[in-house]
Amino acid sequence: MTVKIRQLHPVFVGEVDGVDLKRPLTPDQVAAIDAGMDRYAVLIFHDQDITDAQQTAFSRNFGDLELPGAASNITKPADRRLGPELADVSNLDRENRVFDRTDRHRMFNLGNRLWHSDSSFRAIPAKYSLLSARAIPATGGNTEFADMRAAYDALDDATKAEIEDLVCEHSLIYSRGLLGFDELSDDEKANFKPVRQRLVRTHPVTGRKSLYLSAHAGTIVGWPMPEARIFLRDLMEDATKPEFVHIHEWHPHDLVIWDNRQTMHRVRRFNDTTEIRDMRRTTIAGDAPTVTQAA
Ligand code: OGA
Ligand code: MN
Repeated sequence: MTVKIRQLHPVFVGEVDGVDLKRPLTPDQVAAIDAGMDRYAVLIFHDQDITDAQQTAFSRNFGDLELPGAASNITKPADRRLGPELADVSNLDRENRVFDRTDRHRMFNLGNRLWHSDSSFRAIPAKYSLLSARAIPATGGNTEFADMRAAYDALDDATKAEIEDLVCEHSLIYSRGLLGFDELSDDEKANFKPVRQRLVRTHPVTGRKSLYLSAHAGTIVGWPMPEARIFLRDLMEDATKPEFVHIHEWHPHDLVIWDNRQTMHRVRRFNDTTEIRDMRRTTIAGDAPTVTQAA
């Protein structure tokens, strides 16, 4: 089958036809998807009724998997609903019951409603994320994507010069702290130790620059804290203006791939204490830190 991609938004996002994710891909298909990711940064596949194993096999075409686990969550291994290769982005517990309103996992997961880039809190942050919709609520729960290349391009020259070599610190402590979720155990705090990331990234294939923003970014190295926070907030506001944003309304069995190096995303609210939203994510590991890490 020939891969066909139709652009859905003026600056990014492609809808893909001609691939069955249940089957092994040909090298040509993988190359077409890779090229599509470089160009569109977000790719949408419809009608892909896949199993976890099929999702994992498809994902491995694009690199090594980044495994979820203590570095990225508060969920203990014994409480996990899914296998070790999948990030559980659902609102379900191990027994497939929706989380109670005050459940700690639910409150932690509410952080996904903030604009972010996946695992920007890891020293080597993620390349791609692949999110499969197994069950969706009747209303709400859209996922929005923002193109950080277009957001960078739109900055004035003085701002581009100012941010070129800035380095931020990212941590789940910052993103969860924004929501007032700050009751973390000593183990969790140790797992979520801040890491450094460049604020401007350059795509290794296209050479395009992008703003590397995320709710996890809590400060700029060498800046007074309030100045860093308000500067990041201003950048975030400008970078998520409607002209840079695509809203994805999910259908069951959609799979969406996004490039965390070039985009941010967030989920919108839905009735998560009554309706089921079963979303499963595989993540492709990045290949290098964006900056030398502090000792
Ligand atoms: C994610 C995420 C958004 C969603 O999987 O990384 O942020 O729509 N999910 O569930
Ligand atoms: Mn995410």
